[in-house]
Amino acid sequence: MASIRDVARIAGVSPSTVSRVMNGTANVEEDKRQKVLAAIQETGFKPNELARALFKQSSKIIGVIVPNIENPFFNELAKAVEEEAYINGYKILLCNSNNNTEKELMNIQMLNQMKADGIIILTYSDKTGQAIASCQLPVVVVDRQLTGSGQSAYVESDHYKGGKLAILHLLDCGCKNIVFLRGPLEVSSGQQRYQGYHEICNKYGIREQCIDCLYDYEDGLRAARELVEKYHHVDGVIASNDMIAIATYKILTREGYRIPDDVQMIGFDNIRFSWLFTPELTTVNQPIKKMGTLAVQIILNYAKGLPFQQENILDVSLVERQTTRRKE
Ligand code: RIB
Repeated sequence: MASIRDVARIAGVSPSTVSRVMNGTANVEEDKRQKVLAAIQETGFKPNELARALFKQSSKIIGVIVPNIENPFFNELAKAVEEEAYINGYKILLCNSNNNTEKELMNIQMLNQMKADGIIILTYSDKTGQAIASCQLPVVVVDRQLTGSGQSAYVESDHYKGGKLAILHLLDCGCKNIVFLRGPLEVSSGQQRYQGYHEICNKYGIREQCIDCLYDYEDGLRAARELVEKYHHVDGVIASNDMIAIATYKILTREGYRIPDDVQMIGFDNIRFSWLFTPELTTVNQPIKKMGTLAVQIILNYAKGLPFQQENILDVSLVERQTTRRKE
């Protein structure tokens, strides 16, 4: 494959002249420019995009760092980011951290070195938040609030309202023995959903019944087994995301419970699986596509020196489907 040196030799100029012609960074005498263009045509030379990016200080790449690409919420968000980046002439580099802070820090460093134009990150590590604060790139923290993340912008949905919507809906459906499969309290989304649930329990004098659960299917199975052991007479389950709800459905039906006749269930996120699944899940909708699109627009506005809103909390809504049934 031809190199920049081959082009320079054929055109009778220096490699730096070839580079200036390619990047348009400085005036080049017209006859030399024509010779360089002819040599590029003759050799079929393709400039190294990454090398050009490093030279131009812009790679047209947006880094996306997510905790777990197996969870549909995160890959649906990454899809929304990719679509908005693409129509604006950018590409994305998707990094999976597995909730590992060291991996998050490594990915942030790599994206800095690659002259990425911005980073969209979902993390709950305050150590990562400190790294973000000293990051030269525009960073948008999605879905979670981080302490110490400096001037980064953030985009998340109203988890607190979502927690209230979930229990209020089960109460409207006549549930009297509700158990909350509570997301991780060290994550702001889990903490805020719990606060919403807690406020309604306080307001109506309802005994709180919580089982802690990570945001993944496997831990959803564990938590659902604990639910069956501890709360035989459960008649309403709030799952802190849709994957936990789907896992809970599996355990409850295996134990002979009918959904929604015996136990009503509500999830959180409204991922595609929530309606591909049978029965279709009642859930709390997060505007996943809008979150991803807005995160990209913040980075683009930053790059153009345009103003952008630093704190963005998007509304959530109840989506009633087949796993709950309102009282007649
Ligand atoms: O499903 C993953 C969960 O983690 C979602 O509810 C999202 O809000 C994040 O907090």
